[in-house]
Amino acid sequence: MTKTLLLLPGDGIGPEVTAVAKRVAGRLIAGGLDLAITEARFGGAAIDADGVPLTEETLAAAKAADAVLMGAVGGPQWAGQSYDKRPEAGLLALRAGMNVFANLRPARCFAALADASTLKRIYVDGLDILFVRELTGGVYFGEPRGVETLPDGQRRGVNTHVYTTSEIQRVARIAFDLARGRKGEVVSAEKGNVMEAGLMWREDVQALRDAEYPDIKLTHMLADNMAMQLVKNPKQFDVILTDNLFGDMLSDEAAMLTGSLGMLPSAAIGEPGRPGLYEPIHGSAPDIAGRGVANPCASILSLAMALRHSLGRADLAAAVEAAVEAALDAGARTSDIGGALTTAAMGDAILTHLK
Ligand code: IPM
Ligand code: MG
Repeated sequence: MTKTLLLLPGDGIGPEVTAVAKRVAGRLIAGGLDLAITEARFGGAAIDADGVPLTEETLAAAKAADAVLMGAVGGPQWAGQSYDKRPEAGLLALRAGMNVFANLRPARCFAALADASTLKRIYVDGLDILFVRELTGGVYFGEPRGVETLPDGQRRGVNTHVYTTSEIQRVARIAFDLARGRKGEVVSAEKGNVMEAGLMWREDVQALRDAEYPDIKLTHMLADNMAMQLVKNPKQFDVILTDNLFGDMLSDEAAMLTGSLGMLPSAAIGEPGRPGLYEPIHGSAPDIAGRGVANPCASILSLAMALRHSLGRADLAAAVEAAVEAALDAGARTSDIGGALTTAAMGDAILTHLK
């Protein structure tokens, strides 16, 4: 049966990099992949055209697709809006609406790029960490939230970090399952020394490990210590399990270890059989948008993750990943990784190596 891929190019460099991923998908379709591609407005582009960052029709299309490939959202022109009218609100609504509670963020350092990292080569060459970040709970969604004015005239701002056992264990399960296909080691991050909900996170993750995953080596680490360990000795990590907020911060840190934010893909998945949401980790990069110089690798590698996790074509995912690696080995570089290729030319270089 024909699978469907919905593209949400979004804002800034999103449309530029997504166009290259679309060309790669087009090549696979020409080679026999049974995939139908559709496209919809999202983020700031949807605010301008439809008044909201995510229309009901677009959310319905996302839920009906097999996979969704997003570009990026946001930009200075929408930054002054109230929270519900910002492009980012559309992304949070899309994640929640699709119920993609586990965000897989691989931080893998391609050998050809080890010198592009701000860390010395010995610390990052061969780096291969998989972040599993909880994506639909925690402080991003917790109630109560907001800013109120107190009787004495000062303001009081509130956001709530909240998790239930089932929310913790369903994302931990994904981390354990994925660790089984790797080194079998999971490090879980929280701040159980100051947060009750952090200690509960630790206990619930440990309980699941003891009940169902005795073969997995689970350790717990305070999130601040993990931030330090990631730059001190990043190769100690295999799979890292985090809540939504710590995962947001720590995955950006890990991404930079690999040389460029422009290289890293991500996959957001939920219950088996439900569509996944795929997106580069980099944002909309307003500073370089419209110039055709953005690195398309993260978007192409996100397409590869979609092929693996939602489209049932791990073979093609591996072929796309190999093509990116071969292009890098052959010296193809956009400016963020020390070269001068345009977005389109980088795409050409990768397509040359796609077997
Ligand atoms: C990310 C981004 C988003 C997040 C923003 C754009 C809402 O930083 O995907 O890491 O905070 O989750
Ligand atoms: Mg982030």
